[in-house]
Amino acid sequence: MDIAVVGGTGLLGRRVVDRLRSGGHTVRVLSRDAPVHRIDLTTGAGLARALEGAAVVVDASNRTGTSAATRGTLVEGTARLLEAEAEVAAGVAHHVCVSIVNCDEVPLGYYRVKADQERLVERGRTPWTIVRATQFHEFVAATFLAPLKRLGVHAVPGMLLQPVGTSDAAGAVARVAAAAPSRGLVEITGPRVYELGELARLWRESNGSRALPLPVRVPGALGRALRAGALTAPGGEGQDTSGVLRGTTTFEEWLRLRRHAPHAGRRVPTETR
Ligand SMILES: NC(=O)c1ccc[n+]([C@@H]2O[C@H](COP(=O)([O-])OP(=O)(O)OC[C@H]3O[C@@H](n4cnc5c(N)ncnc54)[C@H](OP(=O)(O)O)[C@@H]3O)[C@@H](O)[C@H]2O)c1
Repeated sequence: MDIAVVGGTGLLGRRVVDRLRSGGHTVRVLSRDAPVHRIDLTTGAGLARALEGAAVVVDASNRTGTSAATRGTLVEGTARLLEAEAEVAAGVAHHVCVSIVNCDEVPLGYYRVKADQERLVERGRTPWTIVRATQFHEFVAATFLAPLKRLGVHAVPGMLLQPVGTSDAAGAVARVAAAAPSRGLVEITGPRVYELGELARLWRESNGSRALPLPVRVPGALGRALRAGALTAPGGEGQDTSGVLRGTTTFEEWLRLRRHAPHAGRRVPTETR
C-alpha cells in the first residue's frame, strides 16, 4: 500500500515508517525538513503534490509551545491536510490520527487541542481511525524527570502514568494504517501504571542522580484528574478486558536499553521516493 506519514521524521513517526516499510508498504515521509516531500501544515505548502497517489495518510505530526502554535499545526494543520486528501485524484481511503489517551478529559491546553484535532478528523470526509497512546517513555523522562536534576531536587507532582514504548505505539499505528478504517478509537498503553514518584526513583537510580525527591501537589481539577489516573487507560494494568492494546516495554526496560544504546532511535529515515 502507498502510505504517507506526516511527521515521519519525529520520535513516533520514524518508527511508524520503519514498521510500515518492513511490512512491505511503500512509504513517503512528509515534514518541513523531510528529504523529499517537504510540506508545512501551518500553510499547506507542498501538501497537494506530496499526497498524490497516497492511499493512506498517517498523521504523526506534533507541535508544542504556545497554544496558538500548537493549534496552528495540529488543528488548522489537520483541516489543511484533510482538504488536500479530498483533492487527491483517487481519494485517500484512510486517515490515521495519532492522539493521546483521555485527551478529552484532561484540562490542559495541549490536550484540548488534541481533542479538537480528533473532532475534526471524526467530522472529515476521509474515512478515519484514531490511535490514542499514553505518554512515551522518552517524553516522560524529558518532561517530568530530567529538567530539575541540576538543581539538586526532583519535583514530583502527584500523578499516575502508564508510559508506553514508542516502538510498541508505532507497531499499533502501523497495524491500524495497514487495515481498513474503523471510524473509531484504538488505544495503546504501556504494561504498567506507576506513580510519578516511582518513575522518578527509577530514573534517578539509572542516571546515578542524587537529586532529592520533592513531592508537589498540583492544585484544582487538573491535580485531581492527574492523581486519579486520567492519563492512564481504562482497566489500568494486568489482564485487559477493555480492548485496550498493551505494549510490552516497561519503563525499567526502556531505561536499561537506553543505558546500553543511548543514541538509539535518533536516526532520520532514508527516503525511498
Ligand atoms: N510524545 C508523547 O509522549 C506522545 C504520547 C502520545 C501521543 N503522542 C502523539 O504522537 C504524535 C507524534 O508525537 P511525537 O512526540 O513523535 O512528535 P515529534 O517527535 O515532536 O515529531 C513531530 C513531527 O511533526 C513534524 N512537524 C512539526 N511541525 C510541522 C509542520 N508545521 N508541518 C509538517 N510537519 C511538521 C516534525 O518534522 P519537521 O520539524 O521536519 O517539520 C516531526 O516529524 C502527536 O500526535 C502526539 O500528540 C505523543
